[in-house]
Amino acid sequence: MIKINSKLSNLVVIPTYAKKEKIMFFNKEKNSEIIKKINLELKFFHFEAKQEETLFLKINKQKILLIGINENYTLEDLRRAYSIIFKQIKKTKEKETTIEIPKEEKEEIKAIIEGLDLTNYVFDMYLSKKEKFIPTINLDIQKKFSSLLEKTLIVDSNVKFTRSLVNQNADEIVPKKLEEIAKKIAKKNKLKIKVLDEKNIQKEKLGLLWAVGKGAKNPPRLIIIEYFGNKQSKEKLALVGKGITFDTGGINLKPTNYIEDMRTDMGGSATMLATFKSAVELKLKKNIVLVLCCAENSISAQAYKPGDIFKSYKGTTVEITNTDAEGRLVLADGLSYVQKHYKPTHIIDAATLTGAILVALGKKVIGMFGNDENMKKALFKSGEKTYDRVWEMPIYEEHRDGLKSKFADTLNCDKGRYGGSSSAAAFLEHFVEKNVKWVHLDIAGAARGYDSPYYVPEMGTGKGVRLLVDYLENE
Ligand code: BES
Ligand code: ZN
Ligand code: ZN
Repeated sequence: MIKINSKLSNLVVIPTYAKKEKIMFFNKEKNSEIIKKINLELKFFHFEAKQEETLFLKINKQKILLIGINENYTLEDLRRAYSIIFKQIKKTKEKETTIEIPKEEKEEIKAIIEGLDLTNYVFDMYLSKKEKFIPTINLDIQKKFSSLLEKTLIVDSNVKFTRSLVNQNADEIVPKKLEEIAKKIAKKNKLKIKVLDEKNIQKEKLGLLWAVGKGAKNPPRLIIIEYFGNKQSKEKLALVGKGITFDTGGINLKPTNYIEDMRTDMGGSATMLATFKSAVELKLKKNIVLVLCCAENSISAQAYKPGDIFKSYKGTTVEITNTDAEGRLVLADGLSYVQKHYKPTHIIDAATLTGAILVALGKKVIGMFGNDENMKKALFKSGEKTYDRVWEMPIYEEHRDGLKSKFADTLNCDKGRYGGSSSAAAFLEHFVEKNVKWVHLDIAGAARGYDSPYYVPEMGTGKGVRLLVDYLENE
């Protein structure tokens, strides 16, 4: 629990930095009394105040935790340092801690809250023994920052909401469950929601979404919620998410070592739902339509088959090269449907779309594609600021060429192995209308954590939510 409170607790955290091998203190005037005492103690300890270095002291009865932070810190340095602080506090089991910070500026405070609060997450749903201890944190900052605190905690809670959705069993988070969750959010905020179930998906001829979903016992859904935060504006942004609740690969079955974490393949939908929820809760002045393209890519007697050709909602036909390239199929119909019925001016889609993006950019960076320079620039900037980082990738003629089919209007994926992320994006591009500004985010790497440094946990990371909320707040 984080509150604004200047009261001195049992434990107090003091930020320090190193300068010419000397230990310096941020916010010296404010903490001058305590700093005097610390200085007397320090000669007995080895502490250099390097970024993320910590030292516990006890002076009289006052417990002190020093943290080193780079003198010219970045926002990410702050997130990381205060993430380390949170972990230390948890270890000590100290009930209440007062935290001093280097500088009382908006962006700095926000980053520090994120570092503390995003570290305060454990996915313990399936653990018999749950850790109950939650420390109280008194942030020693001015009361005028209370709305900043509140807003930051709202977005953080939605980051954690994404993590938990991604982490839960595939048999729990099925398309129908995503419908129920979306309906609850819509009802609570009095928003209009439309859901196409398996009957409507067939009746309305969303042939690609149906092809992917028809093999599973848990039937597919297309979920759409509208939020009008700025009725004067003609702009409308569609947030479209891939929501494959489990990706077996289909008849092109995934092998061992590639299939175990495929419950996370609805990460795009979870990210977009959480971004949308944040925009609504923060009352952002934006018009947004959320589109979740949900299906289970199952292997069964009814599953769609390689080589078969299906007609998309747009009307073009698609030859299935590989049933494991299912994400782009459900997205294609979702994109066409929202453009026809809701006429967005802008679209951002998020999808755990390709393993190839991990090869290209590693496990932590989001691949960005699209047709609009301004959107891409703004998203890059938000990525640097939030450290949900994005890097632009191309869609070239060569990528489009690989999708040519002899028997249908397009293949669903290139028969070659290389450039998989770009050719997937080229497939999506086919379903984006000319005058619509569009960005595609491939979050196959970033949405899932592999190690656990700082405030990003293993498996569901929630990466993409802070990125998109920052983009919405600043665009
Ligand atoms: N869901 C996967 C992509 C993925 C891979 C996400 C690894 C997270 C981690 C996607 O549906 C898929 O299987 N893509 C194939 C495409 C291929 C068949 C062209 C891939 O990337 O191998
Ligand atoms: Zn797949
Ligand atoms: Zn997939």
